[in-house]
Amino acid sequence: MEIIIFKDRDRAGEYAAALIAAITEECAAAGRSAVWGVATGSSPESTYQHLQKRVAEGLDVSAVKAFALDEYVGLDPAHPESYRSVIEAEVVKKVGLAPQNVHVLDGMASDIPSECANYEQKIKAACGVDVQILGIGANGHIGFNEPGSSLASRTRIKTLAPKTVADNARFFDGDTSRVPVHCLTQGIGTIMEARKIVLVADGPNKAAAVASMAEGPISTMCPGSVLQLHPNVTVVLDEAAASELKLKDYYNFAQENIPDFQRP
Ligand code: F6R
Repeated sequence: MEIIIFKDRDRAGEYAAALIAAITEECAAAGRSAVWGVATGSSPESTYQHLQKRVAEGLDVSAVKAFALDEYVGLDPAHPESYRSVIEAEVVKKVGLAPQNVHVLDGMASDIPSECANYEQKIKAACGVDVQILGIGANGHIGFNEPGSSLASRTRIKTLAPKTVADNARFFDGDTSRVPVHCLTQGIGTIMEARKIVLVADGPNKAAAVASMAEGPISTMCPGSVLQLHPNVTVVLDEAAASELKLKDYYNFAQENIPDFQRP
């Protein structure tokens, strides 16, 4: 796991966008379109802003495909806080992906197991995810795989943890009763199949989760800790999110001495 710490959220987002742009260009050079896994929430906002700049500078995303991580169950897709709406605003309108190439789970599906199985099939049919963008919950969740989730799980329905409901109430005028309790989420096993993972986190309320994810035991108590088993993860942090890392000095030292061929 590579951990890179930046002064602020904007620089972290700029770096994450550079990684995603590089993978997108590598895929294009190999004659195929990249597949992105896309997260919602506050963490990747700066990454999407910088991807928007990259596109303005010539990055071609016209054939890039994307799969969203998760969606609320029972929330009208037209609701501004449905993840379909958020992905349309951030990834389609802002970054410029073609709407028909962007997939979001249907949280209103009448047959939820089929919806989840079909989503897995669509990812497979696209030959898997080249680069998965992740945030992390303050309780260590990735996607909406809350503590207690199977580390081998596939796309399915989950019940949000009360902590997540409280954290996400900020998107619903601070009213926890308006936050849906159920969601559909890619499983941890699904996420782990992405070829590259870029996790972005900022702010002091993520510091404990980031430390458990990177330096704690691999445990369902912190679902993000499973990323220690993935061979190609870059964690992009601001100073505040990195503040509880025990090996922070080492991560900085490693970046100062990064071999030239590993520089993005
Ligand atoms: C969002 C998602 C979640 C968020 C996490 C952090 O699609 O899957 O895991 O990444 O809840 O949310 P923010 O970034 O809003 O703090």
